[in-house]
Amino acid sequence: MKLIHTVEELRSELSVSKSAEKKVGFVPTMGALHPGHLALVKRCVEENEVTVVNIFVNPTQFNDKNDLENYPRTLEADLELLKPLGVDLVFNPSVEEIYPEPDTRVFDLSPLDSVMEGYYRPGHFNGVCQVVSKLFDRVRPDRAYFGEKDFQQLAVIRAMVSRLNYLIDIIGCPIVRESDGLAMSSRNQRLSAKDREIALKISHTLFKSCTFAESNGVAETMNFVERSIVSQPGLTLEYFSIVDGDTLQPVKSWEEASRIIGCIAVFCGGVRLIDNIKYKEE
Ligand code: PAF
Repeated sequence: MKLIHTVEELRSELSVSKSAEKKVGFVPTMGALHPGHLALVKRCVEENEVTVVNIFVNPTQFNDKNDLENYPRTLEADLELLKPLGVDLVFNPSVEEIYPEPDTRVFDLSPLDSVMEGYYRPGHFNGVCQVVSKLFDRVRPDRAYFGEKDFQQLAVIRAMVSRLNYLIDIIGCPIVRESDGLAMSSRNQRLSAKDREIALKISHTLFKSCTFAESNGVAETMNFVERSIVSQPGLTLEYFSIVDGDTLQPVKSWEEASRIIGCIAVFCGGVRLIDNIKYKEE
């Protein structure tokens, strides 16, 4: 496994694989790796001849300066976790390497970015598309792997890839949860032991809402989840939406779409956590 920091090194390392027509798989991350990331990496290694993992905390996707400053940076530990997995290249560029000049590109992501994360974190998905498109242009992977915990991000990336005609297969991988149900996230590291206990209410409410939804409508299910979260001291609900899994627009009935998902964002001890649950799958 080779650690590289510049686009030049990346280009020369990949040129051999490209000329041998090897399949290149790519896992973009912001580091602070946890088993959720490692599941993406393992799948990438299984399905491709060359695996590139990117570790870069992308400033343009943070709409909150404190969030950017507090984002965990754990390169040494990340490399230790990646070593046994069969990764070929770890690309860990500086901000200047990715953005030698400010990126002023604006991506048309409508209507996917007007709701949920897009609404509460203005500019976030534009920043994600800026960095992911730059990385796609430099790595030119055959496949790229993203987690379904960031369900809206996955939909946004798929839209960008289709609108910009990238020839890259976007592979969505299931949420990885702790044994007690908490969705794995780099942000969990910032929860105190007490807040971590409280945060469990999020996934447990979503699981229960799936059973509730079997005999109740969308509005009742929304109400069920909102009341459960709001009644838990220590949690502040930012949003809960039940949406079409493709357009991400809110639905009013279970018949309205073939894929339906509930997405939630909650603050716990000052840490913003997101999670989601599938109510209906094709
Ligand atoms: O999901 C993330 O960690 C980031 O949004 C991504 C895709 C690596 C872009 O910075």
